This record gives sequence, C-alpha cells and structure tokens, in this order.
Amino acid sequence: MIKTRFTEMFGVQHPIAQGGMQWVGRAGLVSAVANAGALGFLTALTQPTPEDLAKEIKRTREMTDKPFGVNLTILPTIKPPPYAEYRSAIIEGGIKIVETAGYKPQEHVDEFKKHGIKVIHKCTAVRHALSAERMGVDAISIDGFECAGHPGEDDIPGLILIPCAADKVKIPMLASGGFGDARGLVAALALGADGINMGTRFLATKESPIHEKIKEQIVANDERATDLIFRTMKNTARMAKNTISQKVIEIEKAGGKFEDVRELVSGQRGKVVYEKGDPEYGVWSAGMVQGLIHDIPSVQELVDRIVTEAEALIRKRLDVMVG
Ligand SMILES: Cc1cc2nc3c(=O)[nH]c(=O)nc-3n(C[C@H](O)[C@H](O)[C@H](O)COP(=O)(O)O)c2cc1C
Repeated sequence: MIKTRFTEMFGVQHPIAQGGMQWVGRAGLVSAVANAGALGFLTALTQPTPEDLAKEIKRTREMTDKPFGVNLTILPTIKPPPYAEYRSAIIEGGIKIVETAGYKPQEHVDEFKKHGIKVIHKCTAVRHALSAERMGVDAISIDGFECAGHPGEDDIPGLILIPCAADKVKIPMLASGGFGDARGLVAALALGADGINMGTRFLATKESPIHEKIKEQIVANDERATDLIFRTMKNTARMAKNTISQKVIEIEKAGGKFEDVRELVSGQRGKVVYEKGDPEYGVWSAGMVQGLIHDIPSVQELVDRIVTEAEALIRKRLDVMVG
C-alpha cells in the first residue's frame, strides 16, 4: 500500500488517477478503474447531452460502489456546450469529485465547492496551478510536455515541471503526462507529487472502449510516434503520429488557418478511429508514453502491477542504496 495525501483526501486505495478522455471516459473503463482502487473520471462532454451524462453516472454507479469522478473540460469555443447544465447533472448525480481542465474554471469551481464537491484542476503550468489553488480547488493535476492532448505552450517536461510545481503548490498534486509504469509512479513521488494521473496507458487496457486495432497500434508505437498539431494556433495538441497529423502540420507550415484543417481534425473523425479501428482516419490523442506500453492488460492487472512493482522499487532498489 502506498499512502499519500491524494489517497487520504479522495478515499481511494492507490495514488493513481485516470484523467478525462474524450470518447473513452465511459462507465466501463471508469468503473474498472474504481474497482481496481484507483480514481477514474467519466468525461462529461463525451455524452451528447446533460441527460445522457446523468444516465452514464447512474450506469457507472451500478458497476462500482467505489468513488469515481467526472471530468469537465472547458473549451475555448465560439459555440460552447451547455456547461451549466452538464454541471447540474454532475451535482444532482451525487458526484463528489470533479476534474476540471481548460479555460477559466472559476464559476464551475465555485458552484462545485458550494455543493461540497472536491475539485482537482488539471493544468500545464505552475502559474495556472497557483491560480487554481487561489481559486479554492482541492488538488492539482499538473500535465507535463509529454502528455497526450493539450500540453500548453511552455514545453516544460515533467522532470522540471513537477518539482517546480511541488516547490510552490501547497495542496495535494498529481503528476500527469508520460506515466505508465511503476518507475514513473516512484519518480513522481520523488519529485514531490502525491500520485500520478494517466491517460494513454489506460487507453490500452481490456476495459477501454476503443477498437482492438487502436490498442494494438499504441503497443506497436514507440515514444517518437506523436505529433504536435495546432502549434501555430497556440492551442497545441499532442496526437498519435499518422498521415493526417502530418498533413495538418504541413498545412500549418504553409500558413494554413484552422478553417483549412477543420475537416481533417474533426472530433467526429477521431470518434470513428476508435469505433472502426482505422488509425489513419483522423487525429487521435496519445502521448509519448506509448514507448513504455507493451501490452493490453485489464485495468486491475495494470494498477496492481504498478503498485506492487513500485513498492518493490522503493524497498529493494532505492532503500538499499542508502548507506
Ligand atoms: C484519448 C485521450 C483523450 C483525452 N481527452 C481529454 C479531455 O477530453 N479532457 C481532458 O481534460 N483531458 C483529456 N485527455 C488528457 C488526459 O486526461 C491526461 O491528462 C493525459 O492523457 C496524460 O498524459 P498521458 O497520456 O501521457 O498519460 C485525453 C487523453 C487521451 C489519451
């Protein structure tokens, strides 16, 4: 057992979280993560309506009696989804833990706190972590440059970002981005974090609701198999490298704007990648940690393996080094 401020605060067995994942953070995966003693998050915006989210929360609860949360990702879009209604579905659904991510979470944090919900804010910079702490969130999840999805624009890898954040953030903190095994967990704890948050590693598990072929592609991919798209738009996203991500970068280099790549990067195409198992159909998120993923275990096997090996690493490798 590894006890940290994170396990204590959120009442989970292990210092491991599964962050929100568009199209992937559904009842099956999240309940498996909860049953394995880690903290899983449903992804609110994966559900087409707030009513669907309410149903998904119910469905998850039927599959586990352990704690789980919901991720609310706040996107800088012109036509925002009905955030207040998704928020109500979370509150009325009896959820006690929320992962927020993205822009200006204040109004959401205030509302969640009013209802006694604990908030973990995920961000990619120390200054954003500190501003979330001032906003009153309960914990921080800090995403390094390695991460799948949005690493921000500072390009600071976890080895620097995590201790820099740990030096300043007072509340419990998860290290995120590039974690996939026991070595990562032990390193994160050594760097000052209270646990790890993983995305890509959970994508390649038995309970992950994506096509087998995409899981196999993640196993086949190495640490170099990612691309950074939207760099020129200052909205960088780390995706699995494929012909589409390369094409997007080419268009950007030639001075193309969002309108020129809109069709290529559409979320619907990404959804089809997961459903039909064609890794070249659209862009899909995956991190550098693909280089450390060599199998497709069940979530229980994965979590057990990480914790057991982490304990052995600390006791049998690190402890004996100290003279
Ligand atoms: C397929 C996929 C979809 C994701 N979608 C979201 C999302 O909708 N909202 C969010 O806050 N983070 C999202 N993330 C980021 C993860 O929650 C997590 O921060 C990230 O994957 C950590 O990096 P790692 O993949 O190296 O573990 C996504 C990640 C993946 C792999």
